[in-house]
Amino acid sequence: MQIHTSIESIRKARRQAGKVAFVPTMGNLHEGHITLMRQAGENADAVIASIFVNRLQFGPSEDFNKYPRTLAADCEKLEAAGVAHLFAPDESLMYPEPQTYHVEPAPAQISILEGEFRPGHFRGVATVVLKLLNIVQPDTALLGKKDYQQLMVLTNMVRQLALPVEVLPGETVRAPDGLALSSRNGYLSEAERAEAPRLYRQLTHIRDAVRTGDHDFLKLETEAMTALTEEGWMPDYIAVRRRADLQPPVHEDDPLVVLAAAKLGRTRLIDNLEI
Ligand code: PAJ
Repeated sequence: MQIHTSIESIRKARRQAGKVAFVPTMGNLHEGHITLMRQAGENADAVIASIFVNRLQFGPSEDFNKYPRTLAADCEKLEAAGVAHLFAPDESLMYPEPQTYHVEPAPAQISILEGEFRPGHFRGVATVVLKLLNIVQPDTALLGKKDYQQLMVLTNMVRQLALPVEVLPGETVRAPDGLALSSRNGYLSEAERAEAPRLYRQLTHIRDAVRTGDHDFLKLETEAMTALTEEGWMPDYIAVRRRADLQPPVHEDDPLVVLAAAKLGRTRLIDNLEI
């Protein structure tokens, strides 16, 4: 695997690579990321990954400084997964001057769910991903459903701005006990790690209840929030939404997804399940 730290270098590699699939990440790679890399390799001549912890998408009281940076171990995993090129810019390459031009996602999408609790987050995500896409110029970009709202925001950005790239979603990879893999799981204590799958179990419960005909979403959401609170969690939201735009369901046959975010100790976990 070649490691590129300049735009000229990754662009040159891209020009020589044929059909390119791109997987942007912030590093500290786990099996969720690696599954995206493998999926990327299925329909492309070469996979390009990026690792960049993007300051723009972190709020002032969030974990930008302590976000785990594990480049050497990440490179071994990427190499083993058959990734041809890694773009690993440092901050002075991505932001040589203050980033004063931004992608502003639709207000309806960033005022809800993650956007409500993390003001400015999706603007930071959309801005860096547009910039990465402009640098790498891939044919496809793989994004995980683990970050369901991020996937929606970026899919809409690509469509509305007519970017010449196809977004391909990847399924959420979980630990055997159901916990969605996440770099932030590393913050959990042993006791918190044992407790953490409760979030997934609550989502499963709601999915199963809705599937078997219970459409009292507010009751299901409130019960799940209460169950988590009783076990010491601090839930931000648990919400049954339409898959298409993450707004509250209107029609009986709207395809649905249930999304959740909750803090366990000092760690904020997010997860979702399609219903
Ligand atoms: P990061 O959290 O590193 O995630 C990189 C990609 O891996 C995202 O598309 C995310 O949805 C996916 N992913 C994370 N955990 C996963 C899991 N358990 N199963 C499947 N896919 C999973 O998301 C970001 O970085 C950043 O916001 C980024 C898009 C790179 C922009 O900075």
